[in-house]
Amino acid sequence: MRGGVLPLPNIISVIKNPQNLRITHSSLTLLVNFTVMGGRASEGLAKMIAIKLKAKYLRSELRIFPDGESKITVNGKPKNGKIVVVQSTYPPVDSNLIQALSLVAKARKYSSQVYAVIPYLGYARQDKEFLPGEVITMSLVANMFKAVGASKVIVVDIHSKMALNHFKIPAKNVTAISELVKYFKKLKLKDPLVVSPDLGGIARAREFAKLLGAKFIALKKHRDRKTGKVEIRSANQKQVKGRDLVLVDDIISTGGSMVKAAEFLKKQKCRNIYAVCTHALLIGDAEKRIRKAGVSKIVSTNTIPGRTSVVDVSPVISKAII
Ligand code: R5P
Repeated sequence: MRGGVLPLPNIISVIKNPQNLRITHSSLTLLVNFTVMGGRASEGLAKMIAIKLKAKYLRSELRIFPDGESKITVNGKPKNGKIVVVQSTYPPVDSNLIQALSLVAKARKYSSQVYAVIPYLGYARQDKEFLPGEVITMSLVANMFKAVGASKVIVVDIHSKMALNHFKIPAKNVTAISELVKYFKKLKLKDPLVVSPDLGGIARAREFAKLLGAKFIALKKHRDRKTGKVEIRSANQKQVKGRDLVLVDDIISTGGSMVKAAEFLKKQKCRNIYAVCTHALLIGDAEKRIRKAGVSKIVSTNTIPGRTSVVDVSPVISKAII
């Protein structure tokens, strides 16, 4: 079947027996016209989403002027229907953000149904006033997506549900945990134990462990809000000896949390440590420091493309779009 049109014998069969009309995920993609516009930060992922949606793919060209301004050109015209803009806002965060907003604004000129897919949403950690005087930049970012004409926002494993609440348009969070777990199920782990580097990540670790068919524990992390310094204060560490550990977090940024957790767990004589996250920012020499702390492998998704992004999130994003 092509172009969303059912063959004649099927149409007759459905008219005679309406119960034969089964709307499946793939048949629905054929009934809705999608165009995917990929931003430079998420080109690979955008193309994979376009394939899954059977959508037209529009590439955008990017030129950065000497002063840092972004100039974006969208090649071609979208089909009539919904437009899906895909662009993560990892570093350079502000440039990638302005490009995401520009693409949404451009898409809005063609369609009233513009989905902004921001797989990694920068500023999501600035979702409340932690110290007096701090600006809640997440709220500003959420307002900007509405202002440029996004009708819906889709993000992956957002840092907190509170960040999502700042959107005044429908905003959906999808999780990459199921896809990450599929990857780990293929590894031959010895008596695996899922570990959250902090108490805030308990729900994530619980979900990961449930899908993996393992148990989980959470360490107690303390981060100095002024210096950003991380310290592991105590933990239920007795069970880790001789086991393969899967350290799960949403983001690895400077690597501080993973380094402290791995150093702590190594002292408890665990076997291998795998550091897994959805968004691997890996700022500076984070990757090197994490490995030096005793982590055998870092695994992340393609919300942020890089050396560790071996897990594809296009299946979960495509499902959320339809
Ligand atoms: C914090 O609560 C997050 O879940 C991550 O643990 C944090 O963003 C990781 O940052 P870093 O790699 O700099 O320790």
